[in-house]
Amino acid sequence: MAETKAIGVIGGGQMGSGIAQIAAVGGIDVWLHDSDAQALSRARSSISGSLQRLVSKGHLSQEVGSDAMQRLRFTSSLEDFRSVDVIIEAIVESEDVKKKVFSQLDRIAKSSAILASNTSSISITRLASATKRPQQVIGMHFMNPVPTMKLVEIIRGADTSDGTFVAVKALAERLRKTVICSQDYPGFIINRILMPMINEAFFTLYTGVATKEDIDVGMKLGTNQPMGPLELADFIGLDVCLSIMKVLHAGLGDSKYAPCPLLVQYVDAGRLGKKRGIGVYTYH
Ligand code: CAA
Ligand code: NAD
Repeated sequence: MAETKAIGVIGGGQMGSGIAQIAAVGGIDVWLHDSDAQALSRARSSISGSLQRLVSKGHLSQEVGSDAMQRLRFTSSLEDFRSVDVIIEAIVESEDVKKKVFSQLDRIAKSSAILASNTSSISITRLASATKRPQQVIGMHFMNPVPTMKLVEIIRGADTSDGTFVAVKALAERLRKTVICSQDYPGFIINRILMPMINEAFFTLYTGVATKEDIDVGMKLGTNQPMGPLELADFIGLDVCLSIMKVLHAGLGDSKYAPCPLLVQYVDAGRLGKKRGIGVYTYH
């Protein structure tokens, strides 16, 4: 398959913005779409701010920074994805919503285009079943924050072709990421292991074993992690964490994956973490 020249990113939240940014810096033309006009405008300012910070820290030249901004086009219409080579979906972690979007993308995208999902946990095989091109559907799971984290987890669905895998691996490596591969099972590698730890941190808080601060300081200093699990949950988004736990619980059928009631209650209360200014902690 020819080298990727243009991509479409759907979902301009924390992940979609990061993916769009690193692709543009990597010399790829990027269309970024979000169904929410305000989210699209926030994506534009967050990418522009992030590029300016990289330039001021000397990590990027002024020329590469401005060139990247020019490669980015922000659109409210998915029809603009007609001619791109690869589409990366980074919308809300819901199988139903993602399937609707995959079926729409299948109608719009050119026949050779690859449809990738940044899903944290949802079956790629099931997302692919919403399209007529399951051989061109794949999981391309970036980590948060995308510009800093070095990993991409690639997940092949039941029908993903070798050509699709090779093209997406080459794209991830061109974006300077290290690739790991996972079979298509709930939560793949990263969230199969990470999310139960975060959920257990919520149970530790919920059952009064310790304060949130002691849980986080304990895990940071005691196990050398850059963030404590509750701080990390706020950073990821408590809605995203809860959706992943539900996928693990439903897909693996073991009560050890049941989401902690405190996590559920925070999400019900709209305490979604750093992006909303309040989660386990409050942010100003
Ligand atoms: N966007 C872009 N870049 C960012 C960033 C952001 N939101 N936050 C930090 N950075 C960059 C900074 O610019 C800085 O870059 P330089 O060193 O090149 O200047 C670098 O990251 C370090 O940042 P800081 O010095 O400000 O802060 P820090 O040392 O405390 O690091 C952190 C911040 C990188 C986020 C670090 O705390 C960390 O690694 N946390 C854990 C992150 C993690 O585990 N991510 C995976 C989550 S799980 C996931 O993503 C999968 C899923 O499906 C849920
Ligand atoms: P987010 O809430 O920050 O952003 C999601 C964006 O998608 C929002 O701007 C929303 O307006 C938009 N959106 C929702 N439905 C849409 C639709 N039908 N069409 C177009 N846009 C739509 O979420 P996020 O944290 O960026 O997560 C996005 C995806 O990436 C999820 O699948 C999540 O599991 C995955 N992911 C998240 C993280 C993380 O740490 N947050 C890490 C890796 C992967």
